[in-house]
Amino acid sequence: MAKSIIIFLGPPGAGKGTLSRLCMHRLNYRQFSTGNVCRQHIAQQTDIGKEIDFIIKSGKLISDSLIMNMVRDWIMSQQAYDDSIILDGIPRTLAQAQALHELVMSSDEPYEMHLIKMQIDDEVIIRRLTGRVLCSEKSCQAVYSLNDAALSPKVENTCDDCSSALIKRSDDEERAIRQRLVEYYAHENELIEYYTSVGLPIAQIAVEKPVDDVYEELTDILGVKAL
Ligand code: AP5
Repeated sequence: MAKSIIIFLGPPGAGKGTLSRLCMHRLNYRQFSTGNVCRQHIAQQTDIGKEIDFIIKSGKLISDSLIMNMVRDWIMSQQAYDDSIILDGIPRTLAQAQALHELVMSSDEPYEMHLIKMQIDDEVIIRRLTGRVLCSEKSCQAVYSLNDAALSPKVENTCDDCSSALIKRSDDEERAIRQRLVEYYAHENELIEYYTSVGLPIAQIAVEKPVDDVYEELTDILGVKAL
């Protein structure tokens, strides 16, 4: 059976990371999150981390070439596994979509691509992101909500997965969130037009509902059993 690549097209706070993590835990999918990798670089103060720290804090986008180098390396490394993969946070621009599509089409792997567009109101996004906390351990970065009991940590301020302390993201203050929304909407249409032009259908999910309902709708679309 062909491996799947799931691509989430969704604004910040739509729940891309949360849904990815559910798919990792319940379906054994493998996830690549550009945001998580960028935050790891910043925490480790690598050359890349020093270059992108300010950009991330301001809510702007990192260069296509830097992002695509990360994605290319990771996708190549996945040839060793049989699991389906989730790309969380890519593509964000037309150039990224084109480069990603070429990469997938030229791969020896017969990937099946699933595009999932997430719909959510901006004010719900602001509420979600100002109430978000995540694991401070950069190899974990599990995400929790202080507003939604189903997504809260079991023990206050402690990660369920690795017991590290929880923190807020530096770009989860309203000004940076609004900038991230501007960046997302500036590119949303070109991404939809591109995928339509290459004949890939885009499934839509309204994500303003309990996360388990969102997950169930996703598994219906993917044609897999919701474990
Ligand atoms: P990134 O880390 O990807 O941030 P983002 O796109 O802004 O998305 P978020 O992580 O904020 O939201 P999410 O959709 O994952 O929501 P989550 O599941 O956490 O990117 C950060 C930065 O890196 C970018 O701004 C850019 O600078 C750079 N970057 C990354 N990729 C790039 C690229 N390709 N090109 C250029 N630059 C790039 O959920 C949010 C909250 O809601 C959580 O608290 C969660 O618990 C809660 N929640 C989730 N689902 C539900 C639900 N159903 N009901 C109630 N609450 C929910």
